[in-house]
Amino acid sequence: MTYVVTEACIKCKYTDCVEVCPVDCFYEGQNMLVIHPDECIDCGVCEPECPVDAIKPDTDEGLAKWVDFNRTYSEQWPNITRKKEAPADADTWKDVKDKMQYFDPSAGSKDG
Ligand code: SF4
Ligand code: F3S
Repeated sequence: MTYVVTEACIKCKYTDCVEVCPVDCFYEGQNMLVIHPDECIDCGVCEPECPVDAIKPDTDEGLAKWVDFNRTYSEQWPNITRKKEAPADADTWKDVKDKMQYFDPSAGSKDG
């Protein structure tokens, strides 16, 4: 199994999750992160760190598409290993649903 980042991360990207991952398997897109399913060791420590509850175990129902999604983009985006400042308007997107329409497939910036 693996943990995956889901839709709630879009436009929030708080990056609290990155800070705790022992194997540095988060990858950064322009407005969300993903987890590489083959690198995640299923420790689960990132799950409670996310303020918007975006991280889920793939054993939850209906998450198969998110495993594919996380795999696809983790192979295209740069690795992120340190917490960085969230987008200035992150809090205004916290409770917004159906954020897939705002997803940006372009890569995020490298660490630093
Ligand atoms: Fe990293 Fe553990 Fe979260 Fe997987 S479950 S992404 S290994 S912190
Ligand atoms: Fe996204 Fe939550 Fe991490 S908003 S960047 S999954 S802390």
